[in-house]
Amino acid sequence: MERVKKVGIIGAGHVGSTLAFILSATTPYEIVLQDKDKDRARGMLLDMFQASCIGVNFTKLGVIASPKDLQGCDVIVITAGSPRLPGMSRSDLLFANAKVVSEISNHIKENAPEAIVVLVTNPLDAMVYTALRETGFNPRQILGMAGVLDSARMASFIFDKIRCAQGQIVAPVMGGHGDDMVPLPRFSTVNGVPLSELLSQEEIDEIIERTKNAGAEIVSCLKNGSAYFAPAKATAEVVRAIMSDSHKILPCATLLQGEYGYTNVVAGVPVELGINGVEKIVELKLNEVEKKQFDKSIQSVLILINELNKNYF
Ligand code: 2OP
Repeated sequence: MERVKKVGIIGAGHVGSTLAFILSATTPYEIVLQDKDKDRARGMLLDMFQASCIGVNFTKLGVIASPKDLQGCDVIVITAGSPRLPGMSRSDLLFANAKVVSEISNHIKENAPEAIVVLVTNPLDAMVYTALRETGFNPRQILGMAGVLDSARMASFIFDKIRCAQGQIVAPVMGGHGDDMVPLPRFSTVNGVPLSELLSQEEIDEIIERTKNAGAEIVSCLKNGSAYFAPAKATAEVVRAIMSDSHKILPCATLLQGEYGYTNVVAGVPVELGINGVEKIVELKLNEVEKKQFDKSIQSVLILINELNKNYF
């Protein structure tokens, strides 16, 4: 019998627990969940296990009580850390969350050195960098989920205007997961039809601005936390793409090593995902305007990475 694949989720906050629930309801994977509040993780898993007995989907669920329970994980998702609060940018979380991610990275290094690690904690690109520095893993083994979320947000705003059939919109977003992210309308289509054929430039500009502010728009509504349904569903998409060795192309944060003209910086770019994590980085041919926007976004990520290199590592 084939071994049941195992996913570890570190952090049972809104994103981590919603992710655990989505995976438990839609996949056969064993899921282990960790939270600094062990009772919270246990309570959530009991609830999910009971939910899995409604219908036919029995899932093996467990609490990570010690770092050793990470052993055997094929994929480990890190969602732990502080979320954004109103008035905060994602980068305000830099040092506090770097400490959390460093500690977890060391546990992974000791107990699951073969696992593919997916970061969700913000500031995303800097946290992928932190995990890479701490573990020394192959850069293709550690990636960040943000582009799938940002692209889904852009698709939702396009859908709002076009009301086409669901699932037809492709709207890639590149760059760092911050205010300078780069939505790419030129590469966006509705079932192959370029966006520019369907919407005016004014409407496209409105979609771009709303996409960049989509996280903050939700933070200002929720008041004491940030988005979690779309982040969790986007992460589930990334986990499934890896676990099933799908070779799906999805935008994810990865270490650039010459691609797009950059080295030693993490940013969101289209990547092919498979059992080894990032199987391949896809290089889009950006025009002058897009390249300038991408460069600006990279500079914002570099500010955080330089801060980490100066004051943390
Ligand atoms: C967001 O964009 C929290 O970064 C996450 O909503």
